[in-house]
Amino acid sequence: MQLTADGKLKHFLTTEGIPPLLLEEILDRAEQFVSLPGKAQVKAPLLRGKTVMNLFFENSTRTRTTFELAAKRLSADLVNLDIRNSATSKGESLLDTIRNIEAMGCDMFVVRHSSSSAAHFIAKYCAPHISVINAGDGRHAHPTQAMLDMLTIRQHKPDFTPLKIAIVGDIKHSRVARSEIHALNTLCAGEIRVIAPITLMPNGIEDMGVKVYTNMEEGLKDLDVVIMLRLQHERMNTAQLPSVREYYARYGLTEERLKLAKPDAIVMHPGPVNRGVEIDSRVADGSQSVILQQVTNGVAVRMAVMSMAIASQASLAKEKGAS
Ligand code: NCD
Repeated sequence: MQLTADGKLKHFLTTEGIPPLLLEEILDRAEQFVSLPGKAQVKAPLLRGKTVMNLFFENSTRTRTTFELAAKRLSADLVNLDIRNSATSKGESLLDTIRNIEAMGCDMFVVRHSSSSAAHFIAKYCAPHISVINAGDGRHAHPTQAMLDMLTIRQHKPDFTPLKIAIVGDIKHSRVARSEIHALNTLCAGEIRVIAPITLMPNGIEDMGVKVYTNMEEGLKDLDVVIMLRLQHERMNTAQLPSVREYYARYGLTEERLKLAKPDAIVMHPGPVNRGVEIDSRVADGSQSVILQQVTNGVAVRMAVMSMAIASQASLAKEKGAS
């Protein structure tokens, strides 16, 4: 559903099933768009005349803002739909909202929603000329976050095949973890580990090709990359943790614990970071942390994905015209 008949990226809903060459194309394109903070930002005309709608039904700082910057740096018109003050809060259905926005004329929806199938649903029922980018749906997927994380890893460690990478924390409720695991498998990462208390470990996660650790110290040994996750309290329906203090005591990434990983290991976090809950401030701000580089890469990866999706629309339109 995400790809056109000739294998181009039409929608970006999940990293699952995207062929390796296409994932690498996203990374290569993104690399060209990376522009460092403090440097002049060059505007590309790739989305000139196109309208992007940011539909964030859930809170977000980094993701919404980086999508907005990405659209603007590609010369698109961007509208941030104010969902909290929109007719959705008056009971309008999602499909009705979509139909009305389509009627205003738009080319791309960037969707964040607490329901795990919202982006797929919109992609299925929206007008055929529109691309949908999933900016996080429930616990399911957050593909652009996964790709900006892949780009950050590749900038430090260009060959994925020998790497030992662990995702640590609330795996159960994390769409980031799922999207990262699919991308890492496709990019042939050497070893993928998940480290979490048993209550935050999804059943059957081993089937995704990961090694499961409930002991933080064992899981951290010899890692090249440590990806920390936030405790997603908003998605926990019962008390799944004894206490935040106990969680930090057993799973918090401290300077001491980080020494178990390789000396040149990098530390990542998709944000928002909860200091003293999953990570010590000295690690979050330390020399091995690449957390802010992830944010910088977020703009570049979103520019790459948006420009690829719009380019696929152009080739679809050409095919139609020719037939
Ligand atoms: C993540 C998300 O919203 O899924 N954050 C993000 O996009 N930067 C992770 C989280 O909320 O913990």
